[in-house]
Amino acid sequence: MTFHVLIPDDVDPKAIDILKNAEGLTVTAPGKLSQEQLVAQSAGVHAMLIRSGVKITPEVLAAAPDLKAVARAGVGVDNVDLNAATEHGVVVMNTPGGNTISTAEFTFGLMLSLARQIPAGDASMKAGKWDRKNFMGVELRGKTLGLIGFGRIGQAIAKRAVAFEMTVIAHDPYVPADVFAQFHTESVDLDTLYARANFISLHALITDETRGMINTAAIAKMKDGVRIINAARGALINDADLAEGIKSGKVTGAALDVYDVEPPPADHPLVGLANVIDTPHLAASTSDAQVVVAIEAAELIRDFLLKGAAQNVCNPAVLK
Ligand code: MLT
Repeated sequence: MTFHVLIPDDVDPKAIDILKNAEGLTVTAPGKLSQEQLVAQSAGVHAMLIRSGVKITPEVLAAAPDLKAVARAGVGVDNVDLNAATEHGVVVMNTPGGNTISTAEFTFGLMLSLARQIPAGDASMKAGKWDRKNFMGVELRGKTLGLIGFGRIGQAIAKRAVAFEMTVIAHDPYVPADVFAQFHTESVDLDTLYARANFISLHALITDETRGMINTAAIAKMKDGVRIINAARGALINDADLAEGIKSGKVTGAALDVYDVEPPPADHPLVGLANVIDTPHLAASTSDAQVVVAIEAAELIRDFLLKGAAQNVCNPAVLK
């Protein structure tokens, strides 16, 4: 039997080659498709290799009765309806390791940009000014970084923060104590993290517990002058509450790479606000990371279709 793979997004050509060179697979790689085009091209497809550009919805699944697997080149599978995929018997897999360093480095860049107002200094020069007074910054050295979520990315940031002579504290109830120690990081509860951190960086998944966790109540527990960084998922933040925290001066600044809805609407309370740095979900966008995650995703599909090997499964209930 020949299996058909659809790649409805732009991915590195090496990933396409892996699938094309595998005996027993045929591949269609039309580049980035709209949702309508995806639905129209889903019949007869056995596996899809996706990025974040398309959504695997019940409508797509209904249009793809032969679909067996979806591999996400990247970590987040929030663009896949996991329950619907499970109901349709579709295995969803991701590539959790491939963009860790890119995301950690970008997060660090956001933290430095916040500390030193680098984007604002650049904008001021581009506006023809030579303003050395309004961009006074702070050092990272000696400051406390609070990481909410201490998985791969949190750990990579901790390693870098220690090199910058920061004190690192983190909250993650799912990580064993010895892992914190390995990264010279103190494990703390959330209230302690809020009370002690000068910089807070978010690295948690979206769950019922974490959705909107950065809200007025949480901000009230934070240190005056705290700076907040989010390169994880937009829904961790209550946008209106953080905007209020910034306008009141309680929060000195925020750097955001992710938004609850992407792209964010024109009236988003944090986009364009003074003391907020906004970037368009760029943390994993390096040539290095995109090659690695695309290759890993292609290998996941190849091994699943041809060898029955299911790795990095995000909806394990489907295998029961
Ligand atoms: C991920 O989930 O892998 C990152 O947010 C990057 C992306 O969505 O492409």
